[in-house]
Amino acid sequence: MSNLYIKHATIVTPLGNQAVKGAEMGRLNIIEDGAILIKDGIIRYVGNSNPLRQIYTIFGHGATFKEIDAKGRVVLPGFVDSHTHMVFGGFRPDEFRMRLEGASYMSIMEKGGGIQNTVNATRKASVAELVENAEWLMDRMISMGVTTAEVKSGYGLDYNSEAKMLAAISRLASRKKIEVVPTFLGAHAIPEEYKGRTSEYVDLIISEMLPKFKKAAKFCDVFTEKNVFELEDSRRLMEAAKSLGYKLKFHADEIVQLGGAELAAELGAVSADHLLHVSDKGIKDMAEKNVVATLLPLTAFALKEDYAPARKMIEAGCAVALATDLNPGSCFSGSIPLMIALACIYMGMTIEEVITALTINGAAACGLADRKGTIQPGKDGDLVILEFDNINMLPYYVGMNCVKTTIAKGKVIFENA
Ligand code: NIG
Ligand code: FE
Repeated sequence: MSNLYIKHATIVTPLGNQAVKGAEMGRLNIIEDGAILIKDGIIRYVGNSNPLRQIYTIFGHGATFKEIDAKGRVVLPGFVDSHTHMVFGGFRPDEFRMRLEGASYMSIMEKGGGIQNTVNATRKASVAELVENAEWLMDRMISMGVTTAEVKSGYGLDYNSEAKMLAAISRLASRKKIEVVPTFLGAHAIPEEYKGRTSEYVDLIISEMLPKFKKAAKFCDVFTEKNVFELEDSRRLMEAAKSLGYKLKFHADEIVQLGGAELAAELGAVSADHLLHVSDKGIKDMAEKNVVATLLPLTAFALKEDYAPARKMIEAGCAVALATDLNPGSCFSGSIPLMIALACIYMGMTIEEVITALTINGAAACGLADRKGTIQPGKDGDLVILEFDNINMLPYYVGMNCVKTTIAKGKVIFENA
């Protein structure tokens, strides 16, 4: 049934069709005892409960609709996880153990482990195996309120294997009821066979992959990092991607301060992500050029690194988004509840800012702010109903799931019994 009527809800939402910047991130619209009407997957009414006239005019005379009484519960826009690597083959628990014993993320990568380890397993996997593994992860994300997920390629690193990953992402999109945003990340690492020949690998991406993957991927992303794709290679690649019509994302200033944020701003990227070591100039440039600063606190936590300077960015007027970075290496976690707690406790974000970061700003980081991220007429009917009537429960119930119901395009896709 495509008609849904939610009544007696405490509706909490940011407003608008674009990223919310700076101090505005702390401002949410609240409707006590609110109602929402969704028809054919689209929100058609948001207001006070008992909208009898609207039920009649919107759903039509005699139409049937599903009704949810949300008394005692907060309703938020569906969460947007705007940075994931959830399609991959194999796991890397032994590397995690090495890190516990003192090895660094980059030292493992330099010895041929890390991303290359997952590349080896992914190259051997079939599309069906990749999809099955990703669906297992996605089901958990849905149970934590995620209704849109960006998913990157980047564990193939040759034409056929990247094509296979993008095919898996597309199948994932067609199988699940949530929105999947595909990103091409051929420049995630330098594959073994191109070791010491980074610019030749970049040439290969530009000439063979970018033109062919334009239909399959909305975004092009790059791991801009010392000893990976440094500034000049990143620039060359992303200029080529931009000229083909890709929207741009950057893994920027994650391990060292290289100027990835500045480059993202200069090239008009939609988002720059990670930013643990971003410079003051990078922050200023992102604020000026409307680059969404996408922060991934679960990764900093798992790598035992300092968190990204969220407060500084918000005070400088940036639009900050939060995402999980779910991947088999640096951060094997898609825990939205833990991410919320870390952002509030260690990054000093307010609960209102966190909600904005996970909804409208995540949507903006996916290029979907016109359709997602707020509870307003005209937007997709993507909602999260919490078990509680108070948004303060979100960080307080540390690492625990507060989601009662997840709704995507007006359909209940998860219900916590
Ligand atoms: O965003 N930093 C690069 N890429 C991923 C990690 C990928 C992996 O370790 O498999 C990240 O953290
Ligand atoms: Fe990442």
